[in-house]
Amino acid sequence: MLNWEEYNTEEAIAPTTPKAQPEVVAETAAQMSEVAEAAPMPNLNDGVAADAEAVAKMAKNIDRAKSAVGQIDVAPGLEELEMGAARVSVDEKAMINCRADLNQLVPFKYDWAWQKYIDGCANHWMPQEINMTADVATWKDPEGLSDDERRIVMRSLGYFSTADSLVANNLVLAIYRLITNPECRQYLLRQAFEEAIHTHAYQYCIESLGMDEGEVFNMYREVPSVAAKATWSLSHTHSLSDPNFRTGTLETDQELLRNLIGFYCVTEGIFFYCGFTQILSMGRRNKMTGVAEQFQYILRDESMHLNFGIDVINQIKLENPNLWTAEFQQEAIQMILEGTELEIAYARDTMPRGVLGMNAAMMEEYLQFISNRRLNQVGLPEQFPGAQNPFPWMSEIMDLRKEKNFFETRVIEYQTGGALTWD
Ligand SMILES: [Fe+2]
Ligand SMILES: [Fe+2]
Repeated sequence: MLNWEEYNTEEAIAPTTPKAQPEVVAETAAQMSEVAEAAPMPNLNDGVAADAEAVAKMAKNIDRAKSAVGQIDVAPGLEELEMGAARVSVDEKAMINCRADLNQLVPFKYDWAWQKYIDGCANHWMPQEINMTADVATWKDPEGLSDDERRIVMRSLGYFSTADSLVANNLVLAIYRLITNPECRQYLLRQAFEEAIHTHAYQYCIESLGMDEGEVFNMYREVPSVAAKATWSLSHTHSLSDPNFRTGTLETDQELLRNLIGFYCVTEGIFFYCGFTQILSMGRRNKMTGVAEQFQYILRDESMHLNFGIDVINQIKLENPNLWTAEFQQEAIQMILEGTELEIAYARDTMPRGVLGMNAAMMEEYLQFISNRRLNQVGLPEQFPGAQNPFPWMSEIMDLRKEKNFFETRVIEYQTGGALTWD
């Protein structure tokens, strides 16, 4: 063990560090002795000269840090911060193009956004909590599933394994900086983490079932019905992910709205629904119940993402009515119809025949029903009058908050503040 006492004097370090001050050296020596106790540093055991050199180097580093801290000029460092400016008031807060300090979470203007953050955290789950043993046996058993059922599992994992990455990238690289409200950003951060959990869940399924990862993760570039959806989503992220993109004009504000409609109403609001319905129908028939359970939790998260996105879109419309022109409304309707068409094509591709008590025609009606809902939610007229929901059980599953058992039966206990030990 090193003994640092002999270096606690000015003479010991004076020859190599003329600028070092005694208290700095003492501090450094004390810190070093703590470090040395925790983990001996063999390279410093070579002799007094080497030790003195190391101490001198550390003293210099600390000097440099002190001098840098002393030179901090607060105002230019925080570009937008006005020292002594009036405190943030609720009236100054806005969804886009807001000039109020974005580092202050409160006072809240949009309680719904904060509530969704709280609800999202309350629904926390992790993929490893779900037992996949039965799924592995079914998947490996040649008689376990029909070819059509296998196709559905493969296509679903193929689409979703990359789709949630597209959504997450759009959130953090495009939307986040343009939504100028801290309580909404708080939710966006939660959503971004949930998207990471979803990608993790798909990866976990793919790994557990021993699928060819390359085949599954490349479907969005290799299988036309999957690629068409991914390409459509990506086309709405390009301009916003340009770091030079700024909102503040009619054109750019509308471009942001297009992105929000493209991702929340269409990608998360329509593109997920055929796959979710197919996998959950499988689970209801007692097949691939682990995968189905993963999808159930994902669907619960996704319905909250969708509702958040709808609220954001409607709030932006409310605050910026000039954006919602007749022409723009027509464009939004068009986008939702394009999304519906792509999802119907995906349904046909994944269900060439009837399977799991459903077929492509039923799915088409379901998607028209969903499409009407999305149009309605953002205040646009329904385009498929009278479309019915052939899968009413989907709505029940979506409201998983009713389910009491999840938190009672979970396998993993999260380490909370109370469980931390400090020794
Ligand atoms: Fe997701
Ligand atoms: Fe999502």
